[in-house]
Amino acid sequence: MDIVYSDKFIEALKAAKSVVVSTGAGVSAESGVPTFRGEEGLWKKFRAEELATFEAFNANPELVWEWYQFRRDIIGKIKPNPGHYAIAEMPGLFDEFHLITQNIDNLHRIAGLEDFVELHGNINRNKCVDCGEMNYEKEFADFPPKCKCGGRLRPDVVWFGEMLPPGAIEKAFTVSRACDLLFTVGTSGIVQPAASLPPAAKQHGAFVVEVNIEATELTFICDEHIRAKSGEAFPVIVKKIKELKGI
Ligand code: OAD
Ligand code: ZN
Repeated sequence: MDIVYSDKFIEALKAAKSVVVSTGAGVSAESGVPTFRGEEGLWKKFRAEELATFEAFNANPELVWEWYQFRRDIIGKIKPNPGHYAIAEMPGLFDEFHLITQNIDNLHRIAGLEDFVELHGNINRNKCVDCGEMNYEKEFADFPPKCKCGGRLRPDVVWFGEMLPPGAIEKAFTVSRACDLLFTVGTSGIVQPAASLPPAAKQHGAFVVEVNIEATELTFICDEHIRAKSGEAFPVIVKKIKELKGI
């Protein structure tokens, strides 16, 4: 695909020292992970608002676990797409680079990024409700599963009404405020506090680029809009950055 770059965007790509990429469900859509909202949204078929809460887990842990095991199965079978791989090359292109994701699907890690902020947890990780210990077990002797301490295990993801993982949101805001170029990619910009990261970057002088197949709640604060699939746009953007930097 061809991207038409504004002069300001080219300048920002050349000059940027500190870059943030903030991703949502749309980056994984081309890998076959359903997004939450929109026509094909997961939540139309499964009433996730009713399942993704601690109250639901208390009331019916077996059902909540079944739903997560079902999603784990889907996610376990899929692979990163060219968007994930292109983003994974970006730490090598700038002095400072941070990825912040709302996704729990692990695809950025499989694509090669090691150090990034997972705002909403990780579906492959479990946490004990009582002692807080984490593990990555996939098969469980008891169902719903238990921790060594006898406490109940839960998926280590953020549910409605819960706080984000300690440290994650602070780090996300710190790096967003400090960056000079931020990409907001494949997110509807509806869910807080993640949706406040691009405006925070903008307020602190960053150039903000949206990569999304359609307009979102964040479109109006963005300086540049790339209306394309992230799996098609990012390989082209990364190639352009390399070209501009002579890499
Ligand atoms: P949404 O499902 O709300 O939004 C997905 C966005 O991706 C939409 O704006 C689509 O237009 C866009 N999109 C779809 N396919 C795309 C593609 N191939 N390339 C680029 N963009 C594409 O997902 P999120 O904004 O990530 O939280 O949802 C945020 C949070 O809502 C989730 O992390 C989840 C949910 O509550 C928790 O589970 C805590
Ligand atoms: Zn425990």
